[in-house]
Amino acid sequence: MNDFWIRNATLVSPTGRRNADIRVIDESIAEVADRGNAPAGVDDHVDATGLWLLPGGVDVHTHFGMPLRRGLASRGWLESSTAALLGGTTTVVDFANPDRDEPIPDAVARWQAAASQECLCDYALHATVSAVDDERLDELAELIEGGIPTFKGFLAYKGRLMLEPEELRLLMTRVHQLKGRLLLHAEDGELNARCEEELRQAGRTEPRHHPLAHPAESEIAATATALDLARATGCPLTIVHLSTAGSLALIDAARTDGVDVSAEVCIQHLFRTDAWYERGIDEALNAVMSPPLRSDADAEALRTAVADGRLDWLATDHCEFPLEIKRSAAVDGFPAVPNGAAGVGERLIVAFTLGVESGLISPERWVDLCCEAPAAAMGLGHCKGRIAPGMDADLVLFDPRASDTHLPVHGTHSLWTGSEWQGAVRHVWVRGHQVVESGQLDPEAPTGRFIRRFF
Ligand code: URP
Ligand code: ZN
Ligand code: ZN
Repeated sequence: MNDFWIRNATLVSPTGRRNADIRVIDESIAEVADRGNAPAGVDDHVDATGLWLLPGGVDVHTHFGMPLRRGLASRGWLESSTAALLGGTTTVVDFANPDRDEPIPDAVARWQAAASQECLCDYALHATVSAVDDERLDELAELIEGGIPTFKGFLAYKGRLMLEPEELRLLMTRVHQLKGRLLLHAEDGELNARCEEELRQAGRTEPRHHPLAHPAESEIAATATALDLARATGCPLTIVHLSTAGSLALIDAARTDGVDVSAEVCIQHLFRTDAWYERGIDEALNAVMSPPLRSDADAEALRTAVADGRLDWLATDHCEFPLEIKRSAAVDGFPAVPNGAAGVGERLIVAFTLGVESGLISPERWVDLCCEAPAAAMGLGHCKGRIAPGMDADLVLFDPRASDTHLPVHGTHSLWTGSEWQGAVRHVWVRGHQVVESGQLDPEAPTGRFIRRFF
């Protein structure tokens, strides 16, 4: 039977830091005791002196192995989950995207089949709703029953995933009835399409022109539409990958009016800006994603809101396409380049270096943003995101004094290359199984488990 103690750790939680000994039995945390309480002479223990003990990171916005078009998918479950574990993230929530006319439960089954073969961390799923009719709406109850209570709608991506406002209203009405939550990709697909067409006409289709097809006003307009619908339908709403100060202001106002709205922010929108598009073609390609990187003023407003609590958690929207693939697609202009960037392996270290070490947030807030808050907000709070008796033993031993940290990235080029990183993930457990030891992945690490979520 798995039964061990982690001794002498500095346990970091959203409410503070304490010296603690933690006992794990089988897959769960059995005891959290003050330091010195682990029985002497127990062989099976880990000495965590000098290290911080965190709950395993929870990234509630990833796209692992996401099929985009024939023969093209984002980097797959094995490699992406490996990066997650090496970076201290033990649970991800990915998006199951149905094909045109595909029942949503079939898409979920496809995602679960892929993940169960290859995913080394635990995983849960959101469901994308890209068509709204009685058949699709009637599938939602079964999905909630199966542990998927969150549904992503898009006002972006005209001709592909975009819903009309009336369709979004119908979807939100049903999601509200079923006690689920609507996640919104807030960009105005019509406006983006018009901007893209103008850029094409003007021959401005280099990778650096990508953000011009996704103006800040587009996110602000879509956020306003969604907040109006949340007011009208009562449906709980989350704006995912929020990127502009303007939409943040709308959310602040809606909350004052009592609207149930939360806001997710991704590390790239906090710590990188649109200057990145002018650094060179490869840098611009790495930043071809939606929403794009924004202005200094937007990023500054988001950082302030992360620090003062108006942004609720930190995710990544991890959706990695190797640079070579983006380069070859770019010959047909930025609209042909697959959208998305890597981040699941980098999130904890990036937020530690640019958030905690820079003085923006405390270590406690960092743990809240990366672990407890996303787990609680997305229906995982019963088993993930906290170190307490009965919770899954998803644990990270982190060295806050390490410097020159190597990020667990693929290839040589990402949004995060070229900076110095601090802090290091030393050891990681998923449900009591040690999967990372001294920064190395256990080659025998077992596959993760599908986690049902509920509110
Ligand atoms: O560019 C991005 N973010 N790709 C992933 C899909 C999405 O919209 O979240
Ligand atoms: Zn999105
Ligand atoms: Zn996404």
